[in-house]
Amino acid sequence: MTGASGPVSPDRRRFLTAGAAVLGAAASAQLWLPATARATETPLPDGVFSLGVTSGDPLPDGIVLWTRLAPDPLNGGGMPDTTVSVEWEIAEDERFRKPVRRGVAQARPELGHSVHVDVRRLRPGRTYWYRFRAGGQLSPTGRTRTAPHPHSSGGRLRMALASCQNWQHGYFTPYADMLAQDPDFVLFVGDYIYESRPSATALRRHEGTDEPYTLVQYRNRYAQYRTDPDLAAMHANAPWVVTFDDHEVDNDFAGEIPQDPDKQPHDAFVARLTAAYQAFYEHMPVRASAIPNGPHIQMYRRLEFGRLARLSVLDTRQYRSDQATSQEGAQDPSLTMLGAEQREWLIDGLRHSPARWNMIGSQIMMAETDLKVGEGKIWYYDAWDGYQAERNALMGELKHVRNPVVFTGDRHLTMISDLKEDYADPDSAVVGAEFVGTSISSNGDQDQDAFHREWDPRVPDNPHWKLLDAHRGYHLFDIRRDGIDAQVRIVDTVRQPTATPSTLARLRVEAGQPGVEVV
Ligand SMILES: [Fe+2]
Repeated sequence: MTGASGPVSPDRRRFLTAGAAVLGAAASAQLWLPATARATETPLPDGVFSLGVTSGDPLPDGIVLWTRLAPDPLNGGGMPDTTVSVEWEIAEDERFRKPVRRGVAQARPELGHSVHVDVRRLRPGRTYWYRFRAGGQLSPTGRTRTAPHPHSSGGRLRMALASCQNWQHGYFTPYADMLAQDPDFVLFVGDYIYESRPSATALRRHEGTDEPYTLVQYRNRYAQYRTDPDLAAMHANAPWVVTFDDHEVDNDFAGEIPQDPDKQPHDAFVARLTAAYQAFYEHMPVRASAIPNGPHIQMYRRLEFGRLARLSVLDTRQYRSDQATSQEGAQDPSLTMLGAEQREWLIDGLRHSPARWNMIGSQIMMAETDLKVGEGKIWYYDAWDGYQAERNALMGELKHVRNPVVFTGDRHLTMISDLKEDYADPDSAVVGAEFVGTSISSNGDQDQDAFHREWDPRVPDNPHWKLLDAHRGYHLFDIRRDGIDAQVRIVDTVRQPTATPSTLARLRVEAGQPGVEVV
């Protein structure tokens, strides 16, 4: 599909008509108009593409292309208060000699001049390059990849699992290694930003003067994070599948209940949620189905990677009951993590899945963490452990699901576990595997000896744990029909802008054999 022989969308037809006067119909390699030929082009401040480009939510025939015009990214964006036309182009090659599709999108002030182009009619399992142009300025070139053909069942899918990037705790150095590993897509399971106020003692300081509460404040916070060069490069080089956890809004919030209800009245928190979700949408390569409706955003969704893998991305924040405060409370059967509708959607999608692997992106840990050494248990009430009845019921369901694997963040540790039907019974069935993918930078460089002194004594109480570690990094998965090969990729530091990466451990999940083993 190249040049004039490609399918012509209305946008593209308009573009070709406009371009014909200057370039003629003999479609040269560079079809874009020079700035001088655009009478109606809005003059814009320099540097509108300071936040780079990214793409996301790959389909076999589609991808979301993203940018946001922000010449003054840390101060509200710096754009004039008008809608601006942004040209986009996607091609089969890096030099755009084989363009496949192009069009014009509108960057509107009410959405922070963000642009989300939902390109369709692409080919499955293919790499594409894309770019944007506005006000005579050209964006950096992005690279992306569509999902495999719906009927394909072979091959290899390479996924990187990331979470928890606290700007103040360190540079996002794991992304430099992730880029070198060239994943087909990145699964990000929460804490993309942290809402904490700037700290004078931080390695690098948050912008602003306080926690973000307003839309402009959240925009500035996202914009600051995107200026990390390793994060920006990873965004530009692979599609992302993103969901949020608590810090995109407020630590440990539950539905419309903030962390400290005494300090944030309900109305104020609803306004905060509304601002936070909108800023999240504005900065993420997600479909229009995720445009927030006030203090609500549709985030749980499914993505298919041929017949190899189905990925269910959860929302464990918006529909949950408030956290328990005791062991007894955590066992209250009326508590919900997912809400009835999402729970039904998840179980239905797992039961009827045609996929070899049923992957679940969960913000918070599903396997048990018993913090109490010896007799009795103590759980984290914000994690699935705090919602015992629903978690245990889900474990029962997983017994009937083909090859379930859960991918998690939140913990700022690598914790790789078997999922068990009943954590009270060590002999109960293993029903799946879970990878808790450490953090990109949150908690910074940890003292490994201190970590092991604190956590190793808990291992006998948690026999389902297969690997525990406190280095910063991410997990990398090669998913094939017969098994998943996982690597825990770590960096030696996040205290400097560059780091030395290495593989801490390799693990394997065998198809047809629930659980995970260190190789
Ligand atoms: Fe986190």
